[in-house]
Amino acid sequence: MPKTIKKVGVLTSGGDSPGMNAAIRSVVRTCAYHNIECIGIYRGYQGMIEGDFKEMGPRSVNNIVNKGGTVLKSARSLEFRTPEGRIKAHENLVKAGIDALVVIGGDGSFTGALLFNSEFNFPVMGIPGTIDNDIFGTSHTLGYDTALNTVVDVIDKIRDTASSHNRLFFVEVMGRDAGHIALNAGIGAGAEEILIPEEDLGLDRLLESLQKSKASGKSSSIVVIAEGDKIGKNVFELKDYVEANLPEYDVRVSVLGHMQRGGSPSCFDRVLASRLGVKAVESLIEGKSNYMVGLQNDKISLTPLEQAIKGKTEIDRELLRVSEIMST
Ligand code: F6P
Repeated sequence: MPKTIKKVGVLTSGGDSPGMNAAIRSVVRTCAYHNIECIGIYRGYQGMIEGDFKEMGPRSVNNIVNKGGTVLKSARSLEFRTPEGRIKAHENLVKAGIDALVVIGGDGSFTGALLFNSEFNFPVMGIPGTIDNDIFGTSHTLGYDTALNTVVDVIDKIRDTASSHNRLFFVEVMGRDAGHIALNAGIGAGAEEILIPEEDLGLDRLLESLQKSKASGKSSSIVVIAEGDKIGKNVFELKDYVEANLPEYDVRVSVLGHMQRGGSPSCFDRVLASRLGVKAVESLIEGKSNYMVGLQNDKISLTPLEQAIKGKTEIDRELLRVSEIMST
């Protein structure tokens, strides 16, 4: 018989993403629906170490489904990486009567959850929240869809000015290790070239492609670059390199930065967050632990946390081809 869960703790950890609030709301209300208490833990694992807790009832999450960021705040806790930090965190959970944990975050947060479970046999469930979409076991992480829409919206605006001045724009988007945002937003916004960490396009090919597009009659162009792209030059060095080799181009750089992590979540992210929160709490009630809830083939699924952390998300190679054809 699984241990009866009476009180669930919920926290957000790592880089925030739109939809985290909708997920908190879902966890809180699913707990209330099943007559379980819910405790919000502030600032991720750091708040767990400091006992920064707050009781959350269904009315405490009114009017947050549409809000970006996270009302519980987020942090990357160095102290939680130490055994002493985790012991303190465990003591606080026990003291507060919390008997299971929902962690909303990325792979770093899941690594912490798994370690915590292995040390204290504490039930944990993960909800994938990061704009990067780089978590194995889900086609979409929370915030990814919103970030794509934000990026496309901004590039549409950049296109207006690029076209007025016949300029080439390098637009840097987030994605330290993953090119999902660059590839999808790049196609959606009609980028000429897309540079991603998973693929080394090479500088020569980039120059060739830009020359070709000039020769084909294009007067302005957009190149989308993921921050961790393989060419290895930062976006400003890339601008200098292209201007030195193709003096006919007038190049500008736009680094979109953290604006990609903010804003009101899209309908897709709100619905996903609601579904994932329900599944996370109900799985804990069923006595499950060490899973991440995710979306696979439009169905909510469970993936062992270990696989979610270690598995590699692949870039859809068909998208690379589509992008190439679209830039003809
Ligand atoms: O992991 C999400 C992410 O937004 C990455 O795309 C980006 O590289 C990183 O977080 C930025 O982290 P920070 O907000 O700590 O600078």
